[in-house]
Amino acid sequence: MKLYNYGSINIDHVYRVPHLVQPGETLASSTYQKLLGGKGVNQSIALARAGNNVIHIGRHHIADEIMVQSMHDAGVDMSQLEAIDVPSGHAVIQVDDNAENAIVLYAGANHSFTPEELSGLLETANSGDWLLLQNECSCTAEMIATVVSKGLHVAFNPAPMDDSVKTLPLDKLSLLFVNQVEVLQLLGADTQMEPEPNWLAAQLQEHLPHTKVVVTLGAQGARYFYQGESVFVAAQKVEAVDTTGAGDTFIGYYMQAMLSGLSVEDCLRRASLASALCVQKAGASVSIPLAAEVDQLSGELA
Ligand code: RIB
Repeated sequence: MKLYNYGSINIDHVYRVPHLVQPGETLASSTYQKLLGGKGVNQSIALARAGNNVIHIGRHHIADEIMVQSMHDAGVDMSQLEAIDVPSGHAVIQVDDNAENAIVLYAGANHSFTPEELSGLLETANSGDWLLLQNECSCTAEMIATVVSKGLHVAFNPAPMDDSVKTLPLDKLSLLFVNQVEVLQLLGADTQMEPEPNWLAAQLQEHLPHTKVVVTLGAQGARYFYQGESVFVAAQKVEAVDTTGAGDTFIGYYMQAMLSGLSVEDCLRRASLASALCVQKAGASVSIPLAAEVDQLSGELA
């Protein structure tokens, strides 16, 4: 079984600020860092650090060869990465003193994929393989249709959420990772509500009966839903420095645990521990823990 990640590659420009900038305000940042990021990259690095062989399908500008080397160093298979003459995707990220962030994205090379190219990108994929994708590359709908027709399992993280996500064939997915606002948006519900787990379980059973759904709940934890049942695991209480990449870390570690055959509860627990370690460091891809660090924390808590 092979695992592919059709994923964004961004250059993250990270500014530490006392508060997120307000309309009309000019705000000085105390630090600036240029780091490799993108939900796609972060999730591939999390998968690799968790112990998976992930093949990343993505594009970046030719001048950014050195930046993407950290994917290789983490153990990501870069054989399907392409360097092209289009600016890499980038993100302008503010991180405030409460560890909250605000992100402006420019898609760049992540949006250079065309529908005609997709089959070629998956030439080596076989029925039973997995493909993970997020919502930062072009042709998301076409990619899902292509891989489903080839018999692959699809795991999808619809972030950053937009109106197009509702039109996607979400019932064809094997696995869906969403936060609470995203799941309410997908269900057409009030995003301010605090949904009861039983209500959410019933809604998801009705709307996505064949899809396993993992809802991340930030500092509270995460809940898995499938066919009316749900499993909850609380998050570790930690002092967060920067939450950027915590969701990506969760997804990578959850998928690695799932593909290793762990129970849903153990997958949620391992992914939550990895996220708890991630938020205690600044940056996205650079703060994703190694499997040994997650093992150590797990051992300390046992
Ligand atoms: O999830 C965090 C990521 O979102 C950042 O690395 C940034 O590139 C944006 O894609």
